[in-house]
Amino acid sequence: MYVLPAELRHALAEELESHREQDLAASAAELTARYHRPFDRPALRSATDVAAYAAVRMPATFAAVRFALAEAASAVPDFAPESQLDVGGGTGAAVWAAADCWPSLREIAVLERDRSAAQLGRSLAAQAEHPAVRRAEWRQAEVGSGPAGAPVDLVTLSYVLGELPEAVREPLVRRLAEEAGMLVIVEPGSPDGYERVLAARDVLIGLGLRVAAPCPHEGRCPLAEGDWCHFAARLPRDSLHRRLKAGSLGFEDEKFSYVAATRAGAAPPEARVLRHPAKRKGLVTLALCAGGGREERNVSKRDGALYRAARDVEWGEAWPPM
Ligand SMILES: C[S@@+](CC[C@H](N)C(=O)[O-])C[C@H]1O[C@@H](n2cnc3c(N)ncnc32)[C@H](O)[C@@H]1O
Repeated sequence: MYVLPAELRHALAEELESHREQDLAASAAELTARYHRPFDRPALRSATDVAAYAAVRMPATFAAVRFALAEAASAVPDFAPESQLDVGGGTGAAVWAAADCWPSLREIAVLERDRSAAQLGRSLAAQAEHPAVRRAEWRQAEVGSGPAGAPVDLVTLSYVLGELPEAVREPLVRRLAEEAGMLVIVEPGSPDGYERVLAARDVLIGLGLRVAAPCPHEGRCPLAEGDWCHFAARLPRDSLHRRLKAGSLGFEDEKFSYVAATRAGAAPPEARVLRHPAKRKGLVTLALCAGGGREERNVSKRDGALYRAARDVEWGEAWPPM
């Protein structure tokens, strides 16, 4: 379970107190509806929308990005980025996630077109313990397919591709790949989000980058038509989050698709767990993506330590554990 850092939770709670709960709830419901339709105009349209986004979406996008970064980090254990560019940073979920994963970060820049999102992101980041998050530079700017900028160790593009016009996506991915030591793209775990990730993955492999995660290979995605590669990150819901979402559970599972690609050598796992493992007495069945394609593997009590590892492994993790 990836939980927002304590200082972010406190800063967010303080910020949300300046909004009426019924306004936040109305914005949260509107945002859900907008994110389920194709984009014809920006989803964030007011400071209340931005606050509602931070309350109900930021904990989820943080959890998804943090999960993706953990998997990328274990495939490239020597990677210790000092600089990050977060494109379409919103209220900063990927900045907090990156600093949590890689304390080595020293310089962070965020590009965000919405003024209220950039303002809230900056003001939350000012409360961070990590100096690079606290000092992050927030630029209110529209990203497009302009020329590459200065090289940067880590570029994150989290829940943004789907908001961009189709014609801009590929040139932007190309440009960011030119700038980045590692590029991490996260999208909602829907068939459409997966399609966008898959298209970006093709571009990155074509440019000679190595896939660090989630794929254990650089061949064609072996999932059958109608299936899509996605994972789930569990996050806690506090009482305001539950009320704004009209939900009663104390947690939610954020579904996401992602790709992390790097210019450095990567040592991806032998296989990746594609579904919740089926755990029965004495037997665990794993749905895996492996070098040779998609396969089901049974691990039984007779397999000793491997069986104990199979009982612990979760959807989205490497197999066998790295
Ligand atoms: C769904 S939010 C994701 C925010 C954040 N990355 C996260 O993971 O929580 C998408 C963000 O991308 C920003 N965005 C969309 N198109 C953009 C563009 N062309 N240039 C800059 N920012 C953009 C939006 O304003 C919004 O804040």
